[in-house]
Amino acid sequence: MSKGNGNGLMGWIDDRFPLTKMIEEHVTKYYAPKNFNFWYYFGALSLLVLIIQVVTGIFLTMNYKPDGDLAFKSVEYIMRDVNFGWLIRYMHSTGASMFFVVVYLHMFRALLYGSYKKPRELLWIFGMLIYVVLMAEAFMGYLLPWGQMSYWGAQVIISLFGAIPFGIGDAVTLWLKGDYIVSDATLNRFFALHVIAVPLVLIGLVVAHILALHEVGSNNPDGIDIKANKNAEGIPRDGIPFHPYYTVKDLFGACVFFIVFFAIVFFAPEMGGYFLEHANFVPADPLKTPEHIAPVWYFTPFYAILRAVPDKLMGVMAMGAAIVVLFFLPWIDRNPVRSIRYRSNAYKFLLGAFAVSFIVLGYFGMQSPTPVGTAISRICALIYFGFFIALFFVSKAEKNKPLPERVT
Ligand code: HEM
Repeated sequence: MSKGNGNGLMGWIDDRFPLTKMIEEHVTKYYAPKNFNFWYYFGALSLLVLIIQVVTGIFLTMNYKPDGDLAFKSVEYIMRDVNFGWLIRYMHSTGASMFFVVVYLHMFRALLYGSYKKPRELLWIFGMLIYVVLMAEAFMGYLLPWGQMSYWGAQVIISLFGAIPFGIGDAVTLWLKGDYIVSDATLNRFFALHVIAVPLVLIGLVVAHILALHEVGSNNPDGIDIKANKNAEGIPRDGIPFHPYYTVKDLFGACVFFIVFFAIVFFAPEMGGYFLEHANFVPADPLKTPEHIAPVWYFTPFYAILRAVPDKLMGVMAMGAAIVVLFFLPWIDRNPVRSIRYRSNAYKFLLGAFAVSFIVLGYFGMQSPTPVGTAISRICALIYFGFFIALFFVSKAEKNKPLPERVT
């Protein structure tokens, strides 16, 4: 007797594997709030970019050579001689930046609607782990073309670990590089980590992220729990099945995303030096430091915080703290109201200042250091950390607006 819906192939599979049950649980009978808006596109788009990166990455690996003497040339070979190699490579390099565009918007949505709050703390922590692992993945991938910026960017970032005192720092940097300088040994291990180890962890975390989401259910722009109001069949009154309603919405989002994505791939793959830095079209030269070394744009807010602190060790700690503090957001924000729609003007002001400081830090992190830039970066770094301190107190004392009974 079949346990599934059908008697044919589906029934046969369902007797041996819970396929129909899984599809129902996660797609056709997963009830999502009916009021999702623009901000709810970016989870599905993050998933889409992840798939683009994995698929194009597999094809790049077929022609790329992780060897200090051959790496740069093999990328040129991919660009000029491999059939559609230029397309695969530009999709992968553009995908890296677009990954951070959609993930930053996805994270900002969580701040707007309090999606990190109870019961979604673990979902948020999985998200933060994804973010950290994604940064490691992008950093290691950037070494592989073995251009000047790949080489010296890696040199600068790895040397940060040298700030750890008592000789531990030197031992750690040596261990990470596998040599006294960034060399073929470094390139080989970054390749292994970038191509298999880190993607495995990333995919595992994304699965955990989505399982955690489906365990507690999605939040929404009103921050009202839809499970609190169910009909006789136990279905949330303000919920609609993910399929077909949100599969269609996400498909529309994917189409718009592809228009933007391929416009960049076809017409501006370097994005004026922001997605592919100009210095990276010159092969790595361990004897010649480029005049201006800056990480890719998605790291620059943290790089600006590092440079804003005069002491190296303190700078590294501030940079680390800027990321670690985000993990604790569910406990720093003590207001039970989730959505910004029903929170005080004080919170709106704080979040606005935080977002502006992050963008300004990102801008100055890209520039060569100047006295004015450093001064502004210092102010913005104070605003960045000040946001969390102020939030801890403001969130407890806030005067919220009245919450509606059901989503609007
Ligand atoms: C590869 C990266 C990621 C993928 C594929 C991914 C995927 C998703 C998907 C499909 C959803 C449900 C749809 C949506 O709410 O837009 C979601 C929700 C969520 N994600 Fe992510 N995510 C990623 C990274 C992150 C990061 C870095 C964070 C935060 C640090 C995060 C935090 C959240 C939160 C809090 C929700 C619940 C939102 C709500 O219900 O209001 N995610 N994620």
